[in-house]
Amino acid sequence: PRTDNDLQVLPGCPVHPRAGAGACPVSAQAQAFDPFSAEYLANPAEALKWSRDQEPVFYNPELGYWVVSRYEDVKAVFRDNVTFSPSIALERVVPPSEEAMETLKRYKYQLNRTLVNEDEPAHMERRRVLMEHFLPGNLAAKEEMIRELTREKVDAFVDSGRVDLVEAMFWEIPLTVALHFLGVPKEDMGALKEFSVAHTVNTWGKPSPEQQVKVADAVGRFWQYAGQVLDKMRKQPDGTGWMHHAIRMNAEMPDVVTGSYLHSMMMAIIVAGHETTTLASTNALKLLLSNRVVWERICKDPELIPNAVEECLRLEGSVVAWRRRATCDTEIAGVAIPAEAKLLIVSASANHDYRHFENGDLLDIYRDNAAEHLTFGYGSHQCMGKNFARLEMRIFIEELSRRLPHMRLAEDQDFTYLPNLAFRGPEKLIVEWDPADNPERADPSILKRSVSFPVGAPSGKEIARSVRVAEISEAASGVKTIRLEDPDGLPLPAWTPGAHVDLLVGDFSRKYSLCGHPSDPDYTIAVLREQEGRGGSRFIHEQLSAGAVIRLRGPKNYFRLEHDAPRHVLIAGGIGITPIIAMADHLKALNCEYVVHYCGRSRAAMAFAERLQQDHGDRAVLHVSEEGSRADLAAIVAGCSTDGARIHACGPARLLEALDGHCVDLPEGMLRTEVFSTDRSGALQSGDTAFDVELEDSDLNLTVAAGQTLLDVVRAAGIDVPSDCEEGLCGSCEVRVLDGEVDHRDRVLTSAERAEGGRMMACCSRAVGSRLRLAL
Ligand code: HEM
Ligand code: FES
Repeated sequence: PRTDNDLQVLPGCPVHPRAGAGACPVSAQAQAFDPFSAEYLANPAEALKWSRDQEPVFYNPELGYWVVSRYEDVKAVFRDNVTFSPSIALERVVPPSEEAMETLKRYKYQLNRTLVNEDEPAHMERRRVLMEHFLPGNLAAKEEMIRELTREKVDAFVDSGRVDLVEAMFWEIPLTVALHFLGVPKEDMGALKEFSVAHTVNTWGKPSPEQQVKVADAVGRFWQYAGQVLDKMRKQPDGTGWMHHAIRMNAEMPDVVTGSYLHSMMMAIIVAGHETTTLASTNALKLLLSNRVVWERICKDPELIPNAVEECLRLEGSVVAWRRRATCDTEIAGVAIPAEAKLLIVSASANHDYRHFENGDLLDIYRDNAAEHLTFGYGSHQCMGKNFARLEMRIFIEELSRRLPHMRLAEDQDFTYLPNLAFRGPEKLIVEWDPADNPERADPSILKRSVSFPVGAPSGKEIARSVRVAEISEAASGVKTIRLEDPDGLPLPAWTPGAHVDLLVGDFSRKYSLCGHPSDPDYTIAVLREQEGRGGSRFIHEQLSAGAVIRLRGPKNYFRLEHDAPRHVLIAGGIGITPIIAMADHLKALNCEYVVHYCGRSRAAMAFAERLQQDHGDRAVLHVSEEGSRADLAAIVAGCSTDGARIHACGPARLLEALDGHCVDLPEGMLRTEVFSTDRSGALQSGDTAFDVELEDSDLNLTVAAGQTLLDVVRAAGIDVPSDCEEGLCGSCEVRVLDGEVDHRDRVLTSAERAEGGRMMACCSRAVGSRLRLAL
């Protein structure tokens, strides 16, 4: 929280332009923020950690930008490209000097709107017309070319023992691929290198006045070069590249794909497709080679590569921030944003936000929501070339890990970064190895092997880590505790109280809360034997034994413990004790004020009852119905409304519904619950009827049949909607509703949010009537 001492008057405050002393709400940290500082350039996510924790939306007067740092807020800004226009995405951070302007004028430089900074409706109209070349069929055809280029480069240095990977392959291949994609002849590459770096400094950097003129000169030459190539291409009406397609579209629809747009796009796409991918590949290799165990796992199992790429893009993306402009007075996370405000939305910070990514700072290639990073942006402007970039990065890693698994980062190197607001990656990456150990010398068949992967983001459903059952023991009648460990003895990723894992046994997946200690290197879960369930718990009780290797997804946390309350009330029903006991341990360790109510049928069936009483003494209250003691929920809740205590509860649906009923008068968010057992019965029900959906951004009309979910139908139409639980529990499949009434079947939205309208979970909720209009 800010103190009065932090408040000061600052010239240029957009909120209180004429306010008196003490009125400006810019905190000292917000004022000190400098995206060109060495600290920020070295690690933008770490440099903004304070903001994610204390002030997720702040104004920096020096820059004249509002900075947004949390995942949900950054995504919300990307998503709403009408309130938050992309028009300033390519605006110069430092306005050009007069001399630089003169230089640009001499070259008749006139970079116009390209796709990325175009407002609606023009943007979607063009995007649709130009999308074809980015579709999966077209991409698969490029795979061979990318692999050949990569092999050629690796052949050239594989016997040398030391190389700068940027110079030797990461710079040139993405450029060649971008030029090939456009249909441009390959000559003039050397000049292009200088051009595209100059473009980055010109747009996103902070050049000195002397640099400005030099940069302007290079940008001007880049502009002229792009024009000349375009003229050459106009003379080849049957060319096959994307630019030829755009030229034909220009002839067919001159109002949609205009002539000036072609020239701008020519230059923009080279920048979009080249440096982004070069830097992303450099970051990825640096990150993987710095985490030897991960690298070795990839070398052994190339199937891990697609998700490793997503995880690298999340943790060390090549685009760290993007820009938007508020078109009207609005709000982000409760902070008033005035019309015309400029926003710096820091995807690098969002990508580390623990609110969305458990253990956000950890490299975890088994993370099943890694592909939800915001490095490619999000929504209707989301990177059109994302699958190209993925394809290139996967092939680079696949070829290098197969042919040079023994390479290491050279120790005698300093990593340098080009100071700018948007792009990030080291300028060099030197690796070393002993060529005598190259596996292809002993086994030339290695050269012929390769693995190809399906185009697009890896599906979360296919990503799981293997764990070994270390121990199974009886926790109570009908409840077993299972301890799981990494098969190689490595520590499993840390977790926070309330987190769960999805256990994949046979063909089922079930959620189990983690109930050991978060700092333990292994995981402990407790499994209740359920006669009525889908068979998962029976399998675990009857067939699983110590030593077995099984797969799991996670950990993830949809039931986070909120610390900021004067007192905490934890309520568990039956096996719902598992997340609750972890929360109790945590609150005790933090010296917080708390009480745990644990309800169950009989003492013998209540897992951890003894441990709870031992560790938590009179803070643990047992309500055993067989012994005639029932929890008086009304009285428990009444106490909370007087002292502002926060309630976390987990247990069967009827307990939580009863609790919900008692909490209607408590302020929003004071009650947080998790149902310990669900099936997908909420998603599809027997009386369901079909309904139509109109997708505003994609200009599509679809029908969701009775036996289908909205998520299934939208995905089948090629639209990326993330999902996780697919049971209405996590909120990751939320879509915006523009019109129509929703039959909400999730457990994410509060009753107030449902009443407000405008949001729904695509995995389970449906239309009340026959039609919905969605912002997709
Ligand atoms: C847009 C990142 C590679 C073509 C974007 C945006 C970002 C981005 C952040 C803006 C998204 C938004 O406003 O929501 C990246 C990264 C890449 C990459 C990190 C590599 C790792 C590529 C490649 C191509 C490409 C290889 C083309 C071959 C485009 C285009 C747009 C775009 C055409 C504009 C889309 C629109 O506004 O509708 N990219 N990009 N990108 N990118 Fe990429
Ligand atoms: Fe979890 Fe829909 S995917 S709520």
